[in-house]
Amino acid sequence: MPDRARFLLAQHAETTRLLGVDFLPIGRAPSASMVAVEPEPAPGPEPHPRVEPVQKPAVRAAPAAEIEPKPPTAPIASVRACHEHLEEPQAKLDAVRERYIADAPHQHFVTAHTNIVFGEGDPRARLMFVGEAPGETEDQTGRPFVGRAGQLLEKMINAMGLKREEVYICNVLKTRPPNNATPTSEEARLCAPYLVEQIRIVAPEAIVTLGLPATHLLLETREPMRSARGRWWTFPPTPPAPPGADGGFSGIGAAGSIWDADLPEIPVMPTYHPAYLLRSYTEENRRKVWSDLRLVMDRLGLNA
Ligand code: URA
Repeated sequence: MPDRARFLLAQHAETTRLLGVDFLPIGRAPSASMVAVEPEPAPGPEPHPRVEPVQKPAVRAAPAAEIEPKPPTAPIASVRACHEHLEEPQAKLDAVRERYIADAPHQHFVTAHTNIVFGEGDPRARLMFVGEAPGETEDQTGRPFVGRAGQLLEKMINAMGLKREEVYICNVLKTRPPNNATPTSEEARLCAPYLVEQIRIVAPEAIVTLGLPATHLLLETREPMRSARGRWWTFPPTPPAPPGADGGFSGIGAAGSIWDADLPEIPVMPTYHPAYLLRSYTEENRRKVWSDLRLVMDRLGLNA
């Protein structure tokens, strides 16, 4: 096999692994007309024909040192202080955005961004989606989930009986990684205090984590998606995983906790990232995601 083909195959396998699956996609590649979550009757227009790069060529493996507990650079209390005096949730979110821009935690890692993609949606949303990091279209527009994966996410939201504007959508990282690389746990840790404040302000009744980076960060777990999805977790995780505990992800927990005592407990449903679903558009995967979303709908009393 030529070196180039071998390289691409290895890259694809690693990306697939990091997205939470331990098998390679089989069957036909997804076409634009397949972009719908079963058994949803495909509402809305077909996805935009422009294909954003969902392959992530520059996946960086997390070195062992990354799972050492370290405090976030911006202590959670200081990020919280920037909005405590404000009343309205949107004003509070704007203050956290300004604080993010001033702190620029992304200066501590490599980014390839043009715009900061802070998050958007109803500041009093009952449901919050947390993705990984902005892609190319998000970077260009400054809005989360507006590329091809975003169009699929919107279909998922619509299938739940909601409009995009009725939920809150954000990411672990607020800036686009080079080559859409998967965020490292260190990058996630640096950006965590701002995400925590977004969660505190919106105070949703449930959070859906899309993919492993958001799931691992908020739930302090290393579980693969195949076992993490399909059941309710809690943010903040209770009890916090002690550093180095079996299965516990101590990148942010315990000594360097990203939350404080009076953060309300919020149910979290992990599920596959829509970009993974687009790449591995099997009926089985679509059914899994749909069954995760049904659990969320049951909890919130939503009708499809
Ligand atoms: N993927 C993400 O995780 N977030 C976005 O905003 C877009 C694609």
